[in-house]
Amino acid sequence: MPADTDKPLDEVLVLEEDLWLDGPPDELFTRLRSECPVHWSSGMTMFPDEEGYWSVTTAEGIYEVSRDWETYSSEKGGITAVTEGVFPLELMRSMFISMDPPKHDRVKALFQRGFTPKRIAEHEDEIREITRDVIGKLEGRETCDLVDDIAQPVVARVIGSFMGLPPTDDVVWARLMNTILGANDPDVNPEGIESVMERDLPEVFERCTKMIADRRENPTEDLTSVLVHAEIDGEKLEEHEIVMGFFLLMAAGNDSTKATYCSAMRALLEDDSQRRMLLDDPSLVPSTVEEALRMFPAFAHFRRTATKDTELLGQPIKEGEKLLMWYVSSNRDETRYEDPHTFDVKRNPEHQAFGAGGRHFCLGTALARLELRVLIEETLARYPDMEIDGDPKYVISGFVNQLRTLPVKLDG
Ligand code: HEM
Repeated sequence: MPADTDKPLDEVLVLEEDLWLDGPPDELFTRLRSECPVHWSSGMTMFPDEEGYWSVTTAEGIYEVSRDWETYSSEKGGITAVTEGVFPLELMRSMFISMDPPKHDRVKALFQRGFTPKRIAEHEDEIREITRDVIGKLEGRETCDLVDDIAQPVVARVIGSFMGLPPTDDVVWARLMNTILGANDPDVNPEGIESVMERDLPEVFERCTKMIADRRENPTEDLTSVLVHAEIDGEKLEEHEIVMGFFLLMAAGNDSTKATYCSAMRALLEDDSQRRMLLDDPSLVPSTVEEALRMFPAFAHFRRTATKDTELLGQPIKEGEKLLMWYVSSNRDETRYEDPHTFDVKRNPEHQAFGAGGRHFCLGTALARLELRVLIEETLARYPDMEIDGDPKYVISGFVNQLRTLPVKLDG
């Protein structure tokens, strides 16, 4: 347990890196939920110019913030704790995740038809083929890293096919997304956050500019074309809005599902009785997916900014202050779940991994659920006796909640 967990709560800075070296600080969140469900951290050591922030840690608090976009804006300060991080705020606001209504709703509507459970279900065969192909490439090997060798290539190809990218570009895009989202972790990004701004962002823009020009000449059926040809209130999106729209879908598609699949597999490999239950009764996979989303939400938090003075669960909040909705905490809220830290494939819980409703509820829920189901089914079918073979390590981040490495022995 990190030492800071014992500190008086008014001295705790929830985002401090030493609390996140081995995943989310569960004991600290347990304390916050019971003693101070809306907690103030006065700043961030890594970003000394950034303001302090409120941590909202219970399901009830997050539900209230998520639903009330008029009081809690996604646009005013963006959706992560650091307002001016890798992206300047202006650029962040070109993604619909960082817009408020009405513009948010109009841009999101462009994509909603393609992401309904029914439309997504049409992709099951294709996703299974991608997954089998990736798992098939491990034939003859004794060990692998589930992050790099199964999760990453599968999710990159699935979102790549939605965006209309050739498979040969998957590795490059995965690298770009990983370094930009894990910019602060020296293992993910040894050259530091400046290199992301100087090298990786320009590469994203350069690659996208070429694609945009190509789609203007030759419209296709993919989501990149949807962005290029979209009209909002009679106007086309500007070039930087198309690039950032593309970035949002790529980042959300690449990172999230990979994170939850790997954590789910780790939980199953660490508890053989749970794995055996699934092997005996594969109809439990959908419930396992919901339990994995609950215990290991791919994003530790998203942020809002208060648009006016208000009160949340009795705590006064001032206009302009930031609030972080900690899904990693609310999904283990003991007032909602019995034995919240235990992975139980039969629980089939409701959770807030995709947000707690409201305007920004995840666009990709059906796709994420389908990918997770197929990935778990196919991995267990081919390698039912897989074992952990080394130390799983987390990306050090209070934003993305994911393993950087999960070494396994394939045949146990
Ligand atoms: C395990 C998988 C996933 C998790 C846990 C997850 C989680 C979330 C959460 C918590 C939000 C809400 C953000 C907020 O309230 O500010 C969100 C929004 C979003 N997600 Fe996901 N996501 C996942 C997979 C995906 C996938 C596969 C896509 C596919 C493209 C996707 C696309 C989006 C988009 C576009 C938004 C913005 C929606 C809006 O602002 O209206 N997500 N996601």
